Amino acid sequence: MSAVTILTGRVLSFATTPFDGAPGAAARLDEAVALQDGRILARGTAEELRAAHPQAVRHAYGDKVICAGFVDPHVHYPQTAMIASWGKRLIDWLNSYTFPEEMKFSDPAYAAEIAARYLDLTAAEGTTTMCSFCTIHPGSVDALFTEAQRRGQRVVAGKTCMDRNAPEGLRDSAQSAYDDSKALLERWHGVDRIAYAITPRFSPTSTPEQLEALGALWAEHPGCLMQTHLSEQTDEIAWVKGLFPQARDYLDTYEQFGLLGANGLYGHAIHLEPRERDRLREVGAALVHCPTSNTFIGSGLFDMAGLMAGGHRIGLATDTGGGSSFSMLRTMAAAYEIGQLRGTPLHPAQLMWLATVGSAQALRMDDRIGNIAPGMEADLVVLDLASTAAIAQREAEADDLWEALFPTIMMGDDRAVAEVWIGGRRVKGG
Ligand code: GUN
Ligand code: ZN
Repeated sequence: MSAVTILTGRVLSFATTPFDGAPGAAARLDEAVALQDGRILARGTAEELRAAHPQAVRHAYGDKVICAGFVDPHVHYPQTAMIASWGKRLIDWLNSYTFPEEMKFSDPAYAAEIAARYLDLTAAEGTTTMCSFCTIHPGSVDALFTEAQRRGQRVVAGKTCMDRNAPEGLRDSAQSAYDDSKALLERWHGVDRIAYAITPRFSPTSTPEQLEALGALWAEHPGCLMQTHLSEQTDEIAWVKGLFPQARDYLDTYEQFGLLGANGLYGHAIHLEPRERDRLREVGAALVHCPTSNTFIGSGLFDMAGLMAGGHRIGLATDTGGGSSFSMLRTMAAAYEIGQLRGTPLHPAQLMWLATVGSAQALRMDDRIGNIAPGMEADLVVLDLASTAAIAQREAEADDLWEALFPTIMMGDDRAVAEVWIGGRRVKGG
């Protein structure tokens, strides 16, 4: 047993979902949280925890907010160096910027460099777990997992599979996608804090044979996650219709091949048909809202309110680098703005929940990460609600916690992320 650490501040956790009833009432506030051996030991009043653990190392954060580390359930770490590439919509954006960059990951040294850079940049933003697409190169998966393991970080990722409609050098085959994914899964899944996700990029870049092979692999390993893209842009949907004339809709191109399930993560899911909504809900699949990406690439406005009311499981993600930010604060702000454009603004409690508990639920990891409760892994963020002069002057006028937090959600960046703890170890601040 290692020493106990006590952090005092405004410890924000969630007792229930803020999408039922009054959003603010879903939260719980404590004065202190105690950590030991990489896990949350207890939460309560500062006095209680100090009395129970008189030898504890103490860190006092005053009125800063201590919340769970942010969980980003849909990213492409290999797109780190081409984030914010100008002027294209999805298919042209992939061909012009994304595929040339992903080609570079045939070099394991480049993959290792970008994996470390990506984990540095996201740790600075308070993201402690992510679920990433890699490239077709198995070495790109090894690079991210090796670096995550070195940092003691919980990371989900998978080899991106593509056997058509991608350039030479960025295509595998149905068989090699199956073999390479299986080998990576067997090497990494469940090692330390690492989990493997079977990863067909999206149905336009996979033949039916490849989708079938990956469906078979998922059936052999149903405990693994499966991640892909769904109904992001109307041009993409028309392309899918042409490529799969027998399919009832876009989702059916996955469903037919065993790629629809409770452990499936479907990124974007903007332009859904009624049948697709129903099937996704029936199987309990996760939808991932990627708001900065959906505005940046010009994809559309995700129906958060309608899908939540329909009982869908929904996470919130950056989609770096189709998304224009590494920051979950910025991503919450974009989700708020899209809610406004749809006439359904999200409450700050809902935004914070989506970036933590909701995204952990999408990854089926909400028993371990995304909240602050005894036994959960000690991935924490300490937020400074007055990190810039502009934010501070607004926060000073706030009457309650949510009003104090909202300017940081809307205007904050990595300066608002005062400290970050991963697995009970401080990785930023101090
Ligand atoms: N659809 C297929 N691949 C991608 C990708 O890399 N980014 C986004 N935003 N959508 C995709
Ligand atoms: Zn994506």
